[in-house]
Amino acid sequence: MQVTLQIERFNPEVDCKPHEVAYMVEADPTDRVLDLLNRIKWYQDGSLTFRRSCGQGICGSDAMRINGRNRLACKALVKDLKKPIDVRPLLGFQVVKDLVVDMEPFFAHYAEILPYLINDERPPHRERIQSSEQRARYDDTTKCILCAACTGACPPFWANGRFIGPAALVNAHRFIFDSRDTATAERLDILNRRFGAWGCRVVFNCTDACPRGIKITEAIEECKRAILLR
Ligand code: SF4
Ligand code: FES
Repeated sequence: MQVTLQIERFNPEVDCKPHEVAYMVEADPTDRVLDLLNRIKWYQDGSLTFRRSCGQGICGSDAMRINGRNRLACKALVKDLKKPIDVRPLLGFQVVKDLVVDMEPFFAHYAEILPYLINDERPPHRERIQSSEQRARYDDTTKCILCAACTGACPPFWANGRFIGPAALVNAHRFIFDSRDTATAERLDILNRRFGAWGCRVVFNCTDACPRGIKITEAIEECKRAILLR
């Protein structure tokens, strides 16, 4: 079948504002939007610009707005989408070109929460033992692939890019509730700052957008509770 993709395009070197371009492509119902974008780029218009890498929902590089909702292009099936399919860059970030947004502010917020295990105690002979219950405590937030679908769907982040955003909070949760980590107090101090966890207004857009099904709002609320109860 023929499917029309309506893509918001913007090249800051030549355009003063974004504009829509419609492309007609041959598609199977089980094709992903990423397949269609590749077909356009390879056979119709090589100037179309978008990020992708794994094609398997793992690398997190192809988050974009598809029919008004943040999704990974490699996980959005043609058969599940209303036609024509509308494709736009994530909101809340500066567009570099077409569907590529500037991820620097996103990764700067991620770096703020110290996204690595901190434990200065002498390492045990073999490994730092953890019970299955202790591991389960933060299992959900280990699933993040840093795609930014959540942060790009967050109204407080749209309003103020200094808000740390849901993805950084998810990753803070991943270490705060890890029994092997000893920097909980430091991370809670970071989240308790202006533009930290309290910037979340519990809109739930992030939870709806997450392609990994992470209970983001719940994780953020757990971080807020940990700040108050310490
Ligand atoms: Fe993507 Fe979900 Fe991680 Fe947000 S929490 S960056 S939506 S995987
Ligand atoms: Fe890697 Fe879609 S291309 S997540």
